[in-house]
Amino acid sequence: MVNLGDEFPNFKADTTIGPIQFHEWMGDSWAILFSHPADFTPVCTTELSRVASLVPQFEERGVKVIALSCDSVESHQKWIDDIKSYGKHTCEDFPFPIIADEGRTLAVQLGMLDPSEKDKDGLPLTCRAVFILGPDKRLRLSMLYPATTGRNFDEILRAVDSLQLTDNKKVATPADWKSGGDCMVLPTVKESEVASAFPKGFSVLTVPSGKKYLRVTPQP
Ligand code: BEZ
Repeated sequence: MVNLGDEFPNFKADTTIGPIQFHEWMGDSWAILFSHPADFTPVCTTELSRVASLVPQFEERGVKVIALSCDSVESHQKWIDDIKSYGKHTCEDFPFPIIADEGRTLAVQLGMLDPSEKDKDGLPLTCRAVFILGPDKRLRLSMLYPATTGRNFDEILRAVDSLQLTDNKKVATPADWKSGGDCMVLPTVKESEVASAFPKGFSVLTVPSGKKYLRVTPQP
């Protein structure tokens, strides 16, 4: 199990682009590892197709993506043909690698098994995990969805935008924030420092407690 802020394991794995050592594969990029219950399953096929469409948007943000499923590289390669056909992707090479975790070693190490979903042999499948890692290889955000609920990849892009913004600016992003929207000034910024730290201006919302903690500023 990896907690937020922990260094992500530097595992070795077989993938559709050959063997990788995870940290070397990441290089200096951000990375997203997302797992799937199994190859040739409907929701997973829609998810991998969606990510293939979004690769340019991940690249714009300096993020490399990699998928994982508990089947072999040979199985993944055949499945990729279906994913490309489903999504009408015309690329020759699939735009991101898929890890083969046939022995479920990574699924166990990363706490991704979903006991409620079993394969034909009764073995638990991986849930839909998402791990977003910073260039320092530390876990910045994780999500766990059950096999029956496909993920919203716009939300994952939105989360990357928030992580990258809040790394550099003294703001946090509120509920349903989208890139370009108003932000909240961090509680750690002293009242006397807000005006100089946020030259675009800020407003303090009035609340019954009288506390001045709802400080809104345009996205820096
Ligand atoms: C799917 O990808 O559609 C799926 C996989 C395992 C269990 C349920 C759904």
